[in-house]
Amino acid sequence: MPSDSFPTVRLVGVGAALPDPCLHNDDLSQLVETSDEWIWPRTGIRERRILPPQLSLVDLATQAARQALAQAQVHPQELDLILLATSTSADRFGSAPQVQAALGATQAVAFDLTAACTGFVFAVATATQFLQTGLYRRALVVAADVLSRTVDWTDRTTCVLFGDGAGAVVLEREAAGLSPLDKPQGILGIELRSDGSGSELLTLSMETEARPLVGSLRVGQYRCRPITMNGREVYKFAVQAVPEIIEKSLFRAGIPAEAVQGYFVHQANQRILDAVAKRLGVDPARMASVLEHYGNTSGASVPIALADWVEKGRFGPGDLGVMVGFGAGLTWGAIVFRWGKS
Ligand code: UT7
Repeated sequence: MPSDSFPTVRLVGVGAALPDPCLHNDDLSQLVETSDEWIWPRTGIRERRILPPQLSLVDLATQAARQALAQAQVHPQELDLILLATSTSADRFGSAPQVQAALGATQAVAFDLTAACTGFVFAVATATQFLQTGLYRRALVVAADVLSRTVDWTDRTTCVLFGDGAGAVVLEREAAGLSPLDKPQGILGIELRSDGSGSELLTLSMETEARPLVGSLRVGQYRCRPITMNGREVYKFAVQAVPEIIEKSLFRAGIPAEAVQGYFVHQANQRILDAVAKRLGVDPARMASVLEHYGNTSGASVPIALADWVEKGRFGPGDLGVMVGFGAGLTWGAIVFRWGKS
């Protein structure tokens, strides 16, 4: 990719939804033994948003989706596919069909995809395949996570890091018969990785409790466990894996790092973003950062960062970008793209 044998798939709209309630670092020091002095220099986070209990992940996802559709000027009924990347769905049978119903996207098929903080990148890669094969024409990828509902609010090593949010993009296959353009357009490169040997480093898992059922028959019953993370090890993994996958994806796409206007890397820690910029030798000003105000919004962080830059005019049609996810699984991946319709 890009290849003459594949049709062009463009990213044509982006949106984000962040809940209003805001939790500052100083507020957290009322909950656990922590402080702004510890959190800010170590992470780059000052505050994060918390979804109120009366609202759902589907509400948040739908709001982000509507924004992306409006920007793309695509009607929900023109969608063929909806992917919801999430690790925090209330309904573990999947919530994407609820987003589909809320949007009125009656022609689309909708399903969930889970790959933690890499979920958005994996979902964009998956949607791209459906469009490139010619099966579908337009897809919506939404990433939404409400980690506030899954953290242990007494565990200072995790509860200070995460926030709630959703982001979405619209992808469109180029209509046949358009005149050839001088520059490759749309999705230009995809690199995806996983390594299950690191699965213990970051977990959001179920415990199985054995219980007697009938006679001598015992049954396992799930019980949710809060997030656990070995921060130091995940940090080491990130600062090595992220630059590597960016370099690989750019090399395969035939694009030099300095030609890229925006790097939209998963927002886990400002120090990781700085280390990646340094290792790649790119201007840190090209690394999108929204961590200060939103914290780590897991799978949603990449489209939230992209939406922020597009809204502020820092990233526009024709600009080259790289989206990078990394996190639990372990999973990581990068997508090289030229933004917009021109
Ligand atoms: O989205 C998924 C991907 N996630 C990531 O990429 C996260 C990667 N990891 C990180 O960003 C960093 O490792 C953290 C920000 C999570 C932690 O920073 P760190 O510099 O690696 O701190 P640490 O875990 O080595 O902890 C240093 C000290 C410890 O105390 P001792 O053992 O040195 O006495 C911790 O107990 O800081 C203590 N500590 C805290 N102190 C105040 C840990 N959390 C806190 C806290 N407030 N919230």
